[in-house]
Amino acid sequence: MNEKEIVLSGIRATGNLHLGNYYGALRNFVKMQDDYDCNYFIADLHALTTNPDPVELHENVKNILAEYLAAGVDPEKATIFVQSDVPEISEMYLLLNMHVGIGELLRTTSFKDKARKQLGISTDSDEDIEKQIVGNESNKRVNAGLLTYPTLMAVDILIQKARKVPVGKDQEQHLELTRRFARRFNSFYNVDLFPEPENFNFGQNAVKVPGLDGSGKMGKSEGNCIYLVDEEKVLRKKVMRAVTDEGPKTPGQPVSEPVNNLLTLMELTTAPEIVQSYRDAYADCSIRYGDMKKQLAEDILKVTTPIRERYQAIRADEAYIAKVVSLGAERARERASRTLQEVKKAMGIIKFY
Ligand code: TYM
Repeated sequence: MNEKEIVLSGIRATGNLHLGNYYGALRNFVKMQDDYDCNYFIADLHALTTNPDPVELHENVKNILAEYLAAGVDPEKATIFVQSDVPEISEMYLLLNMHVGIGELLRTTSFKDKARKQLGISTDSDEDIEKQIVGNESNKRVNAGLLTYPTLMAVDILIQKARKVPVGKDQEQHLELTRRFARRFNSFYNVDLFPEPENFNFGQNAVKVPGLDGSGKMGKSEGNCIYLVDEEKVLRKKVMRAVTDEGPKTPGQPVSEPVNNLLTLMELTTAPEIVQSYRDAYADCSIRYGDMKKQLAEDILKVTTPIRERYQAIRADEAYIAKVVSLGAERARERASRTLQEVKKAMGIIKFY
């Protein structure tokens, strides 16, 4: 029998999961678990790059684990683990960093965005951003962990030799870097250690879930999220308050960004013919945003309510969560320690006593 292809993905331990995390990643975690060798983890080390409160970090790890399980990730089918439970990852992160250029890290979009936010820089010019990061003398600091975020993510993937990585559109640049690091390592040491991983969404383009505030993507730090565990009332209120426009004035005019964002959300949750009916109503200027939002809230609740209900019970059972991740850590470490030995051997780090 053919061995199953290896899948790996993770989510940072920063706050509860939102619809972006669900449609970009978690939904596929569940859909893939029967047919692939699936490995899903909580990225607590990645969360450290933004210096979270230690108590909150610990809580978030357990919350997200419970959300994985509540959404249907099955520990009998998939390996579920916490990143920091696999110390081999940290060791290989040090080793791989020796083959990663500071320049390519500085140019990574996610780094520039986060650094810009942390330092309150408004410029778009790469040169200015670099100058301000290096020259910054205030007590605001962009830490080296944030810069090397892509190395750590590449190690998560490469140490398991994963080929498929179900993630949202915002992670594609990180995957591109991972492939580049894999090729570079293989060719520098003349080995065939790492396969090149790719994003996976069942043949469809990677997903970008928009926020409710009219522009951009749904994101934990944007304050524009619908969380999987939002209470029904809260969720309805958020949807009803979502930004729209003043309504179309001319038949056939292009759909404005805020309304298009809501239609994109609808495409993920609502029957295609209903979405089309709202597109048609926009085109002939008869659209009623109140009705559209009610429909959207209803359809989102159909997805989130069962997850929220299961979540409460699972989150309360700490012994169960602990069992799941201790078993997961054992399994994840098996392959990780094998790969780490191969990496060290290739690099000449060889024990001789
Ligand atoms: P994180 O925690 O930012 O997001 C977790 C997953 O959710 C997806 N996502 C979205 N997808 C579509 N639309 C959105 N608005 C949206 N917001 C978030 C992300 O694409 C991601 O799939 N670097 C990763 C965590 C990570 C990882 C890895 C992932 C660390 N190591 C190894 C895969 C493999 C991250 O920050 O995800």
